[in-house]
Amino acid sequence: MQVIVKNTVEEMSRCGAEIVAEVIFSKKNPVLGLATGSTPVKMYQELIKMHKAGKLDFAKVRSFNLDEYAGLAETHDQSYRYFMNFNLFDHVNINKKNTNVPSGLAKDIPAACAEYEKKIVAWGGIDIQVLGIGTNGHIAFNEPLSGKNSRTRKVALTDGTIQDNARFFAKKSDVPTFAVSMGIGTILEARKIILLANGKNKADAIAKTVEGPITHMIPASFIQSHANCILVIDKDAASMLKGKYPSSL
Ligand code: GLP
Repeated sequence: MQVIVKNTVEEMSRCGAEIVAEVIFSKKNPVLGLATGSTPVKMYQELIKMHKAGKLDFAKVRSFNLDEYAGLAETHDQSYRYFMNFNLFDHVNINKKNTNVPSGLAKDIPAACAEYEKKIVAWGGIDIQVLGIGTNGHIAFNEPLSGKNSRTRKVALTDGTIQDNARFFAKKSDVPTFAVSMGIGTILEARKIILLANGKNKADAIAKTVEGPITHMIPASFIQSHANCILVIDKDAASMLKGKYPSSL
């Protein structure tokens, strides 16, 4: 695992965008694994800037998102499909038919999850998976106790995660209590992983992810075992790390 510490969120986002763009440049039919949350928003803005400047073509890009709230329609302004359209897809030349977000409304959730997994494999697997991190060390919606071999499935959200995400909803009781999420096993199959984190509220989770033992109590720690994994974080998120880490590769 490589760790890069940037001074600001802007620098973190530019660096993240360059890493994602490099994958888009180097693959014929790139498959991106995409994340939601406030952390990657500026990175998506950087990718949009590159596209608008004529430097980045999304025509051949395909994507799979990590997760979706159970019970929210795609049109709900807090659904992750809505987030992706609003923050990235509507601003670049990606074909929306080539973008996938798990359905929060599937009648048969286990069948829909199995289909999602099959489609990732059928499309050649994920070239780069973008991740954020929850304050309790979750990735996607893999809360503590998620197993290393977990696959896309319905998951219950912890009270802490519901509290953290309540800022996006009118009130805490509006936050869905379940989600559909790629599993840790699904995520670890991506050929490359990039995890972004900024802010002091992520410092504890980042310290445990990077320097702690691999444990299902900190699901992000499983990425320590990935062969091609890079963390790009700002200095606040790095503030509880004991080691010294470079600001570029
Ligand atoms: C949610 C998402 C995660 C995201 C996390 C952190 O729980 N399912 O994918 O990493 O929030 O969000 P933020 O970036 O807003 O701190």
